[in-house]
Amino acid sequence: MAIASENRRGMWSSRWLFILAAAGSAVGIGNIWKFPYIAGENGGGAFVLIYLVCVGVVGIPIMITEVMIGREGRSSPIIAMRQLTQRARCSPAWVMIGWMGVLAGFLILSYYAVIAGWAMNYIWLSASGAFESATAQNVGATFDNFLANPWQLIFWQTLFMVLTIWIVGKGVSRGLETAIRWFMPLLFILLVILLGYSLNSGGFEQAFNFLFEIDASAFTDPEIWLLAMGQSFFTLSLGMGAMMAYGAYVPQDAGIGSTVLTIAVLDTSVAVAAGLAIFPIVFANGLDAAQGPGLMFVTVPLAFGQLPLGIIFGTLFFILVTFAALTSAISLTEPALAYLVEEYNAKRKRVAISLGVMCWILGLGTVFSFNLLADFSVVGDLTIFDFVDYVSQNILLPLGGLLIAVFGVWLVPKEVLVRQLGISGGFKLFVWRLVGGVIAPLGVLAIFINILWPLIQGVFS
Ligand code: PHE
Repeated sequence: MAIASENRRGMWSSRWLFILAAAGSAVGIGNIWKFPYIAGENGGGAFVLIYLVCVGVVGIPIMITEVMIGREGRSSPIIAMRQLTQRARCSPAWVMIGWMGVLAGFLILSYYAVIAGWAMNYIWLSASGAFESATAQNVGATFDNFLANPWQLIFWQTLFMVLTIWIVGKGVSRGLETAIRWFMPLLFILLVILLGYSLNSGGFEQAFNFLFEIDASAFTDPEIWLLAMGQSFFTLSLGMGAMMAYGAYVPQDAGIGSTVLTIAVLDTSVAVAAGLAIFPIVFANGLDAAQGPGLMFVTVPLAFGQLPLGIIFGTLFFILVTFAALTSAISLTEPALAYLVEEYNAKRKRVAISLGVMCWILGLGTVFSFNLLADFSVVGDLTIFDFVDYVSQNILLPLGGLLIAVFGVWLVPKEVLVRQLGISGGFKLFVWRLVGGVIAPLGVLAIFINILWPLIQGVFS
């Protein structure tokens, strides 16, 4: 999370502030809304395991490289990449990484605002007591009615977008640091309360087995590998320059490795806690684990509806989810915004509004995917929302990450590794090149090839 415009060269006042900001970007509806529903759609255990392995083996090294490039460049991702390619005397084509990131951020924000809008509506619904002692049917019907009404979705999408653009346009994001400091732990506490409810709901054991029991046959499905890898990039805000943009403000004396590790552990704990809180409710109430994007919206209200003080907790929960989404949305705009402001000296506010309007228009495609255009598919059976989500999360982010890893480990001048990571040579350099420069990018490549292979075979047969 960011960075006052008037203070572009400023630094985070401490390593912890960067951790808070980066965690604010990483922890979002990707953890609480998306992770449980994609895990549910893909059979649980094997997906979760591949996701965890991707976070550790691919995500963490790539995040280190992203933050490193950001801190070395001390400017927006596109400009940092431009400077570094010149210094490294390699092709300017590598700057593409920055542009792809801008595109990915734009696509993601278009639908992110719609879903975050749902959470905002649920603040209101929870506060009005709509879920008090509700049954699974009531909660399901409330959600279906809401989705069927495009005007309502547009209303909340617009509200969320205006809030995001207002914050990034004014450059007041720095004030949010204080808020994150309080809200993030509070969100975690509420997840633990929800978890406490779920432990006693009668569905915990089944949920635990669902999330952690591994069905070996799922490992042979290349699609599950791709989805789990995409989720690991999405949840860590990787591959699109968000971490690079924030990395530009990390103080020089902070160790990048341990900082990144802290962020990844925080982010993963929130996702796993959300999964462990939500699935018991699914099983205890005979709901469908594979029902898709509605999962959080039909389980959480059901649980809080049955808890004492549920109105307060439920309302607070959706306020915190909205806040978590806001700090992620801010980071989605940062690479594009920072570039336009730095390169063209454009007015931050004006750029923010233009980006916001374009993103809002694209987001209408997502709004209509749940009602008017629910039967329209872009390719295969993918609605507009599915398509935008699939391309950004499963293709653009991992591809961006792959290129960042190759560039940041093999092509940047070696002095950068010495200065930023304290790696000067010998065994340390060997290990870092192996982990960050071989295993991480090859992992992404292998998953891509696995998906493409049948298509390639099809062309030649
Ligand atoms: N990591 C955020 C989430 O989990 C989403 C995000 C993706 C933010 C990419 C920035 C960049 O909700």
